[in-house]
Amino acid sequence: METHLVQAQVDVGAGEAKTMIVGLPDAAVKEAAQRVASAVRNSNFSYPACRVTVNLAPADIRKEGPVFDLPIALAVLAATEQIAANDMLDLVAVGELWLDGAVRPIHGVLPIALAARQAGKKGLIVPADSAAEATVVEGLAVYPVRTLWEAAEVIAWPERRQPAPCTAGEWRLSSPEYLVDFSEVKAQQHAKRALEVAAAGGHNVVMVGPPGSGKTMLAVRLPTVLPPLRMEEALEVTKVYSISGKVPKGVGLISTRPFRSPHHNTSAASLAGGGSIPKPGEVSLAHHGVLFLDELPEFSRDALEVLRQPLEDGIVNVSRVAGTAEFPARVMMVAALNPCPCGYFMDATKNCTCSVSKIRQYLQRISGPLLDRVDIQIEVPRLHREELLSSGDGETSAAIRARVERAREVQARRFSGDGIFCNAHMRPRDLRKHCPLSGEVRKFLSGAIEQLGLSARAFDRVVKLSRTIADLEGAEQIGANHVAEAMQYRGLDRKLWS
Ligand SMILES: Nc1ncnc2c1ncn2[C@@H]1O[C@H](COP(=O)(O)OP(=O)(O)OP(=O)(O)O)[C@@H](O)[C@H]1O
Ligand SMILES: [Mg+2]
Repeated sequence: METHLVQAQVDVGAGEAKTMIVGLPDAAVKEAAQRVASAVRNSNFSYPACRVTVNLAPADIRKEGPVFDLPIALAVLAATEQIAANDMLDLVAVGELWLDGAVRPIHGVLPIALAARQAGKKGLIVPADSAAEATVVEGLAVYPVRTLWEAAEVIAWPERRQPAPCTAGEWRLSSPEYLVDFSEVKAQQHAKRALEVAAAGGHNVVMVGPPGSGKTMLAVRLPTVLPPLRMEEALEVTKVYSISGKVPKGVGLISTRPFRSPHHNTSAASLAGGGSIPKPGEVSLAHHGVLFLDELPEFSRDALEVLRQPLEDGIVNVSRVAGTAEFPARVMMVAALNPCPCGYFMDATKNCTCSVSKIRQYLQRISGPLLDRVDIQIEVPRLHREELLSSGDGETSAAIRARVERAREVQARRFSGDGIFCNAHMRPRDLRKHCPLSGEVRKFLSGAIEQLGLSARAFDRVVKLSRTIADLEGAEQIGANHVAEAMQYRGLDRKLWS
């Protein structure tokens, strides 16, 4: 996620016709010598028939991939005086070259553009197909190029090429568009309300229900009721996608909250991030959005284990031979599962065929550390036929989102300067400070907890949830009615995990 600017220095001198690249290059960078030579020749320039030394400075940073092709080629052209170098050092150039001189798109253009601006560079020469990411950065002239020749023009004949218009303003005007909406979900009032509370306070959710009850349908719609991404959030999300090469073509900034739903076969490494040169995993691709774990008990223990740190700290550390990387991973986790292997335990109409020990074994896989980070647990029952046939009363996502946004504003004021943004992230001292309970409410709560046999830990969770429910209502004080609703989202604790 961090970008270092690299200088391509070229020296041309007497000696055998050979190109040497130094400065800790990996294999792909070493191969640049061949690509650059052909691209230069095929672009109406000539390649020196003598010794060419390329130094990529600073030499102590490992260089990987083909992004250095274009700057090396431009430096060769300047060193051989085929183009005037002009203000070359005020420009940053990136791009892979093909043998015919075409400039190919690369990964990570957004972070590069941000770094170029920060370093006070005036302009950035980028492959045309990657330019959309760069033009969202204000105060930087972005030159999209399709060929080495066009890139040479930017430097040698600046009057011939205009920078692309900046698109930062456009983004601010556009509101995110989702392909799904809560109005399509019939009935399931309890689940919808729970997801509204979850969205309002940033709480993690577990949904339990038989096959076909609508768990996936509900989860997919959660991003549509979260507040729109702020500019800084969108930049962070796009950076993660940019270095993973996952920004859709022609898109500048990603404006919708991510929704990632990795398959349960997913390895711990692809959840957390990995590879010989670490790349972000699913939990980072879901940054500022929703990480949906469908069929939670089917995930391997290792996979669930790596989620502990990101769910706690909002970041994930990946260490590999090539070094460690830290990626952002602030997600809302939503998990879905059947209550038992056959799926019909707790179902009103079908009979469950699983033995008690089998059910216990199945649920045990997810108890403990992960469940500890989940504030809301709800049951999603199958709809009756009449409910499915009904036309549905569909409140729209926009209407729900308006309430969520109001509740989030209350929280932003409450936590300003505290380093947290929503109720779900309250630490014990925040709880004491922001959630005072009247004697009456306290009595009601402890009575209920005792009656339901909930743990002491559940107490804190219920208080956090009550705070969010009160915020949704615009209430300053947590009342017994808020606590009563919050208790409902803990009902499964006793039913399943004891
Ligand atoms: N409340 C609902 N309103 C409208 N359609 C629904 C509702 N619930 C379920 N459906 C329909 O049933 C289909 C199956 O729902 P979904 O895939 O969300 O179930 P699920 O709970 O995730 O099941 P599984 O446990 O098998 O993954 C949906 O695609 C949708 O067409
Ligand atoms: Mg499903």
